Amino acid sequence: MSWCKVVVLSALLSVSWCAEDWTFPPGFKFGAASAAYQVEGAWNVSDKSEGIWDRFAHTVPTATIDGSTGDVACDSYNLWETDIEKIVELGLHYYRFSISWPRLLPYGFANFTSEDGKRYYNDLIDGLLAKGVEPMVTLYHWDLPQVLQDLGGWTNPLIVNWFGDYARVVYSLYGDRVKLWLTINEPMSVCDIAYNTAVVAPGLLSPDHGTYLCNKYVLLGHARAYRIYESEFKAKYNGEISIPNQLMWYEPWTEDDVDLAELAIQNNAGRYSHAIYSKEGGWPPAIEKIMEENSKKKGYPRSLLPAFTQEESEYIKGTYDYYAMNYYTSRVVRAAKEGEVLTAYPIGDIPDLNAVVGVRPEWAQSNSSFFVLFPEGFRRQLVWLKKNYGDLKYLITENGYPDIGGLNDEGRVNYYRDHLKQLLLAIKEDGINVTHYTAWTLMDNFEWNNGYSSKFGLYEVDFNDPLRTRTPRDSARYYTKIIKNHALDLE
Ligand code: NOJ
Repeated sequence: MSWCKVVVLSALLSVSWCAEDWTFPPGFKFGAASAAYQVEGAWNVSDKSEGIWDRFAHTVPTATIDGSTGDVACDSYNLWETDIEKIVELGLHYYRFSISWPRLLPYGFANFTSEDGKRYYNDLIDGLLAKGVEPMVTLYHWDLPQVLQDLGGWTNPLIVNWFGDYARVVYSLYGDRVKLWLTINEPMSVCDIAYNTAVVAPGLLSPDHGTYLCNKYVLLGHARAYRIYESEFKAKYNGEISIPNQLMWYEPWTEDDVDLAELAIQNNAGRYSHAIYSKEGGWPPAIEKIMEENSKKKGYPRSLLPAFTQEESEYIKGTYDYYAMNYYTSRVVRAAKEGEVLTAYPIGDIPDLNAVVGVRPEWAQSNSSFFVLFPEGFRRQLVWLKKNYGDLKYLITENGYPDIGGLNDEGRVNYYRDHLKQLLLAIKEDGINVTHYTAWTLMDNFEWNNGYSSKFGLYEVDFNDPLRTRTPRDSARYYTKIIKNHALDLE
């Protein structure tokens, strides 16, 4: 990337200065992420209760392709000090991890807090801070207490209160030391993947109702957690909060599909962002209209996309201190042909938009058909966000690459290089204010349906070893070099 600037030397003399510049802005921070169910293990230790992934992995034979569970995972519950060693070895500025709701509040409700749960996260937070690493904490990363799921989980409006109560407990315990908060990780996975496909926890198929009830109540739950912090903790602790959205970038298949691609983005990014970041609030208008028409066609007396009251809409609007974005992959879309059978969103097509989803043949594959590589999509998505929601502060809260293992992970090195390059272009050429980049993930862990077969780690974990030995991959060394130089290594 060539940079040419006019430098004014004196009132009468100015020169032009050009340089190759792949450095990150001053103060830019690098981190890595994990999530409680994927790394902690200790699923029934002390008074921890069952979470929805415990139940799903234990009872549904097809839950994971390798028949595995998160019962032990990376054993980070016992090996958190080793994790911190690796975090320090990498040179990370911050570590993103999640708190397990069923570990901290075993009954789901805020009437009882586990001493053991309190201690575990206190130790982890203090251990990180002692090494100069900032904690970035996710309140919810897909591990709802099963007792709350039995009451309807994210489709029950009362979860807005339950989540708010849980958030208040967490802020009271750790708010003095944690300044970066994330509420509900990837609501698109929690709602759309879950209820449209049932191949993930809680394993309930309810594409017409579950998906959209969940969509509404995660937005309200997020807003409740934000408002509680704002009114009860902000003045004291001055932390920042957002909701990490998983954004899939959509390109038009042909030039006839430009409007459809925009609708696909509104359906993915917009359905979880518009209510929070747009000036008018509520659902993205185009999606709201389509959902009304679709619901009518299906014979329902009202839209399946549950309306917001004016009060709810105002309550959700503006509940952010920054935009948190998880990005992995992109797709192309086209209008379905007459009679074409569509598969379920978001793993397959987008039936709500009568759209067929695919990938361009030239896009590289990873070992997983879901994670197709289109690094330019990362930059284009950021440009779209800025255009739609404004010149906000953007944090990349996840980005990463799966393979089948091995220490020489060239594919992952290339992935990080190509995506960080697009990120720098977004920062320098599109003027997008991105301040953090988070690699997914610190070490191999329980990758949901793929169990331990899909490896995303900067560190390899030996799952046959009771010590769960963590060994750095080439990508770990590559990432460390970038962090140390504060610049992208394009070699
Ligand atoms: C996003 C999720 O937040 C995380 O849990 C998952 O492991 C990665 N994507 C990779 O699929």
